[in-house]
Amino acid sequence: MCAALTDLLGRVSLFAELEPAELEMLSRAAERREFVRDEVIFAANEPADGLYVLASGRVKVCVSSSGGKELILATLGPEQFFGEMALLDNEPRSASVIAQLPTVAYRIRRDEFERLIEQHPAIARKLMRELSLRLRRSNAQMESLATLDVVGRLARYFIDLARQHGQILGNGWVAVRRPTHQDIANTIGTSRETVTRLINDLEQRGLVVNEGKMSYLRESVLSGEEG
Ligand code: CMP
Repeated sequence: MCAALTDLLGRVSLFAELEPAELEMLSRAAERREFVRDEVIFAANEPADGLYVLASGRVKVCVSSSGGKELILATLGPEQFFGEMALLDNEPRSASVIAQLPTVAYRIRRDEFERLIEQHPAIARKLMRELSLRLRRSNAQMESLATLDVVGRLARYFIDLARQHGQILGNGWVAVRRPTHQDIANTIGTSRETVTRLINDLEQRGLVVNEGKMSYLRESVLSGEEG
């Protein structure tokens, strides 16, 4: 059995307390799926087929209006999971999940997920903790959309992006794989043009540097020291 997959599953908070033998069983039951950038992993309202654990890449969780306007609720990265809600409440998918980068995920079937929760109370506890964390983040996003102007929302966006997906370089900069301006706009409720204009301004002030697929953010921006 693939030791790398067993290791990955052991690092997922949900499964951290499983014994090695259980992790191995789980890794045998997991099905590897690969997605290209912008590929829809599943769409809102589809029936649920399983829980997904991210091995690499990044996904966005989003809902769309009938007019095609997209709101991004969250972005998730390696060792995080998605697709648990529809399994827990037996409803269709609550949102669409789309690859933001080339992504590898492992799918765990519904029956296996249910068996794990029944046999391991620690998994149920971790699940509730993660759901609470996501609810807190959603509350913060709602607060930000309702109370901050667009400059404040972009600053808050970069802070969250750096905390959740950033790599601290130790020289006053944080590196992140750059999301598109459209995805940033769809998270903070503004137009792509506005995001481009604001980021150009941050670049001119030396607070954001874009290079290849990466963005480098000044830590002072993220701690709110810069206006
Ligand atoms: P499910 O409803 O099965 O399919 C969509 C998934 O997106 C959902 O499970 C969660 O895993 C995830 N999701 C939905 N809403 C949020 C949110 N507000 N924050 C983070 N993840 C979410």
